[in-house]
Formats: sequence, C-alpha cells, structure tokens
Amino acid sequence: MRVKILTAICLTAFIAMIAAFAIADEKAAAKHEFIGEKKCKICHKKDGTHPSWLETSHATAFDNLTPEQQKDPAYIKYYTTGTDAKGELLTGVQCEACHGAGADYKAKKIMEDREQAIANGLLIPDEKTCLTCHNADAPGKLGATAKDWDFAKAKAKGVHAMPEAAEETE
Ligand code: HEC
Ligand code: HEC
Ligand code: HEC
Repeated sequence: MRVKILTAICLTAFIAMIAAFAIADEKAAAKHEFIGEKKCKICHKKDGTHPSWLETSHATAFDNLTPEQQKDPAYIKYYTTGTDAKGELLTGVQCEACHGAGADYKAKKIMEDREQAIANGLLIPDEKTCLTCHNADAPGKLGATAKDWDFAKAKAKGVHAMPEAAEETE
C-alpha cells in the first residue's frame, strides 16, 4: 500500500514538472503577430520611411511575379512577409520582414523606448537580415543578383530614407 502511494506521489510530481517545463517553453517562444505595413504607416509616413519604402522593389516584389510564381512556395518564402492574425497574406518585403512582427511593439509608448520595443519583438536589421533572402538559394532574379551583393550599396538603394523622428499622421 505504502509503495503504491509513494509511486502515485512521484508520478504526480513528475507530470507537474513536465507541464511546468511545457508552459515555460511556450512563454520563451512567445510569437508576435504581424500587423502589416499600413499600421506602420500611421506613424512612419511623416518621417519618410514608409513613402520611401513604397518606392523600393521590396514593396512591389510580389506584384511583379507571374501568377504561377505567386502560388509557388519557393517564391512565397522570399516575396512575402507572413500572415496577419486574420490569416491574410502580407505580400512584398514589408517593414516587418526586416523589423520583426509588430503587434506587441507598435504602441507609441513602447516604440518610443528602444529597449522596450526590442523586448517586444522589434529587430534592428543588419546585413544578416538581408542575407536570409539575398542568397543563392533564392529563386529567379533574387538568387541571380545575390552573387553581386554589396551591403552598403544595397542598403542605400533598397531600404528607405533614414529619418529623424516618427510622428502620427492618421
Ligand atoms: C503609434 C505610432 C507608431 C506605430 C504604429 C509604429 N511606430 Fe515605429 N516608432 C514610433 C515612434 C514614436 C518611434 C521613436 C522615434 C523614432 O525613432 O522615429 C518609432 C521608432 C521606430 C523604429 C526605430 C527604432 C530605433 O530605435 O532605431 C523602427 C525601426 C520602427 N519604429 C519601426 C516600426 C514598424 C516596422 C512599425 C509597424 C509594424 C511601427 N514602427 C509602427 C511610432 C510608431
Ligand atoms: C529590407 C529591410 C527593411 C525594410 C523592408 C524596412 N526597413 Fe526600416 N530599417 C532597415 C535598416 C537596415 C535600418 C537601419 C538600422 C540601423 O542600423 O540602425 C532601418 C531603420 C529604420 C528606422 C530607424 C531610422 C533611424 O534613422 O534610426 C525606422 C523608423 C524604420 N526603419 C522604419 C521602417 C518602416 C516603417 C518600414 C516599412 C515602411 C521599414 N522600416 C522597412 C531595414 C528595413
Ligand atoms: C524577405 C526577403 C528579403 C529580405 C529580408 C531583404 N530583401 Fe531585398 N529583395 C527581396 C526581393 C524579393 C527583392 C526583389 C527581387 C526581384 O526583383 O525579383 C529584393 C530586392 C532588393 C533590392 C533591389 C535589387 C535590384 O537591383 O532591383 C535591393 C537593393 C535590396 N533588395 C536590398 C536589401 C537590403 C539592404 C536588405 C537588408 C537590409 C534586404 N534587401 C532584405 C527580398 C528581401
């Protein structure tokens, strides 16, 4: 009898421990939702980042694919940003493709505090960010141009204006 109770106690403790680990794991991997470039535009129009991004080939990358390529997972991986909470595909290389999914950092109070924004998912991109797409594995033109990659030149041409400060306009 005693042994049985002990076994039961041990088993319960073991299960509780596993559950605790599972919860901790889920928290560590907390996923941020994508919100789409139109949400960033609300505050990043006046500072010039959104308007100048619109003029880059990142903004139109998906639109310029053929209908067949737009359905090809090999292209979708490089030519889209992800899906938002409603499951809508965010096409093109949007803000969040480089800066991370914004649902948890988009609030003004958080955005104004760089440390807090980063803690809530904001990424400050560097060359490594670009190389996740500008590499030889990428399909079509993207893969073909990867061999002539020059970060300084690409940054000047392909990102957006680097502004002073954001201001809400909508
Ligand atoms: C409610 C307004 C607001 C929204 C919405 C917003 N931002 Fe910001 N953002 C700011 C403010 C204010 C700052 C701080 C001043 C600045 O650096 O322009 C800022 C700063 C930034 C910075 C610079 C961080 C740094 O310290 O270098 C990045 C990058 C950025 N925002 C990206 C985004 C992206 C991407 C989105 C959409 C997912 C977004 N923001 C949505 C207001 C906003
Ligand atoms: C192709 C990648 C890429 C995309 C797309 C992109 N950014 Fe950036 N962004 C960068 C890089 C790189 C920097 C410079 C980071 C650094 O070194 O400070 C930057 C910096 C910024 C800054 C800070 C500017 C400064 O001078 O401190 C803001 C604000 C910003 N981005 C907003 C946006 C918004 C809004 C969008 C979408 C309209 C966007 N970004 C799209 C790569 C990108
Ligand atoms: C999510 C994938 C992705 C990321 C991340 C990315 N790019 Fe791109 N980039 C693309 C795609 C797709 C195109 C359009 C290729 C085409 O025209 O078919 C492109 C085009 C460009 C072009 C224009 C090339 C040309 O000659 O027309 C430049 C410049 C560029 N990217 C710079 C950058 C820089 C700098 C970074 C990092 C700060 C970056 N990209 C990050 C996917 C990405």
